[in-house]
Amino acid sequence: MPITLVIGTQWGDEGKGKVVDYYAKKADYVVRFQGGNNAGHTIKVGENVYKLHVTPSGVIQGKTGIIGNGVVIDPEVLIKELDELTARGIHPKLLISDRAHLIMPYHKLLDGAEEDLLGTQKIGTTKRGIGPCYSDKIARNGIRTCDILNAQLLKRKLERILPIKQKMLSIYSKRDILDLSSIHKTYLNYGKCLKPYITTTHITLQEAITQNKTILFEGAQGTMLDVDFGTYPYTTSSHTIAGGAAIGTGISPRHLTNIIGIVKAYTTRVGEGPLPTELTEDIGQYLQQKGQEFGTTTSRPRRCGWLDLVVVRHSCNISGITNLAITKLDVLNGLKTLKVCTQYKINGKIINYFPANTYDLEKCEPIYTQLKGWTDLPKPITTLSDLPKEAQEYLTYIQKEVATPISLVSYGPERSETLDCY
Ligand code: GDP
Ligand code: IMO
Ligand code: MG
Repeated sequence: MPITLVIGTQWGDEGKGKVVDYYAKKADYVVRFQGGNNAGHTIKVGENVYKLHVTPSGVIQGKTGIIGNGVVIDPEVLIKELDELTARGIHPKLLISDRAHLIMPYHKLLDGAEEDLLGTQKIGTTKRGIGPCYSDKIARNGIRTCDILNAQLLKRKLERILPIKQKMLSIYSKRDILDLSSIHKTYLNYGKCLKPYITTTHITLQEAITQNKTILFEGAQGTMLDVDFGTYPYTTSSHTIAGGAAIGTGISPRHLTNIIGIVKAYTTRVGEGPLPTELTEDIGQYLQQKGQEFGTTTSRPRRCGWLDLVVVRHSCNISGITNLAITKLDVLNGLKTLKVCTQYKINGKIINYFPANTYDLEKCEPIYTQLKGWTDLPKPITTLSDLPKEAQEYLTYIQKEVATPISLVSYGPERSETLDCY
């Protein structure tokens, strides 16, 4: 399968980094197509743990990483990440789209200012400037990687944009001064640093497809954080679904035929917004501790709950997911009974789709099926039949309920703790 797309089916942090690293073994290119350094993708190889925010996870396997046009880049974070990888003996091969938008200092200031003003109504963003950067892209006020390679062009753009941003900051009672010459100098320096990587990545990818190269697309966040199909407005600002890969890289959607949806064996969410199967007491805390559910980017505790198959079904339908990869199965070890949500009840009526408005969502009561738990998993696991009978039943139940086969099971953070069932 020369082209594979990996996306999150829930609220992010499903284990995309681990699964992408696993599949990257066979890839020529690993491509990020949306999001920015709001993402935090973890890869564990032996004792080495890598937490990547914007660099595609495939660089750990020595593959060429591509940052597509749909990604928003904080150049300071990217350069630091590349330096840190180099210091650890990984020399990232990287290409960056000349059309990718840049996170500017005022985006970060505005992200924080908006959240502070919203108070209890806040989204709970990562405050990395993601929303304001995508807003500027759509409003045609963005600064792109190609702009920081040209001093005059960058100056002209900053002269137009900075006075508007300065006014916006004062509306939020922020006193920070946006100094044109200092921002100009800093971003030109970033341009110098990143110039060797900046290119027409859409053409690189189109050529790679004609040459039958193996390409792996690495989604960030998850379907429920998609700006259209997630729990809006408690979402991120990009398209996290399969369609986002075509827009965010410049390849045709007809190439996206192998789409892997990552499903954490339970549910987590970081930030505000509805979470129908949330468990606030003992089992929620058990999952949080056992699964080490603390944000890779912000270290915030992740809210935990039972597996929600209304969510996974929604994800499969929106993205045309062809296979599922189940992660963190080991975290459920030791629970006597497991619950899986298959439908919601709202005002006495049963529904099996995901409502659009958060007001309805908050009223949704999950309808659960109970399944038997298991005590432990053997290691290593080489075939599905190595799993305890109850774990096999849990997996069978998931694939039957969402009518999608499971092609991978992850039972630990380490690269080798992976069962490939293709
Ligand atoms: P991503 O954002 O989807 O890449 O996921 P994160 O890296 O933010 O969070 C997933 C966390 O779970 C990381 O700490 C991983 O190392 C860890 N992890 C991934 N797969 C497994 C697994 O199967 N079992 C356990 N126990 N941990 C896992
Ligand atoms: P990965 O790729 C989990 C959440 C934030 C917040 C909302 C909006 O590691 O799965 P933003 O900063 O994007 O404007 O925040 O989205 N969020 C994530 N949650 N995993 C992520 O990425 C996330 N990226 C953003 O917590 O609720
Ligand atoms: Mg993450």
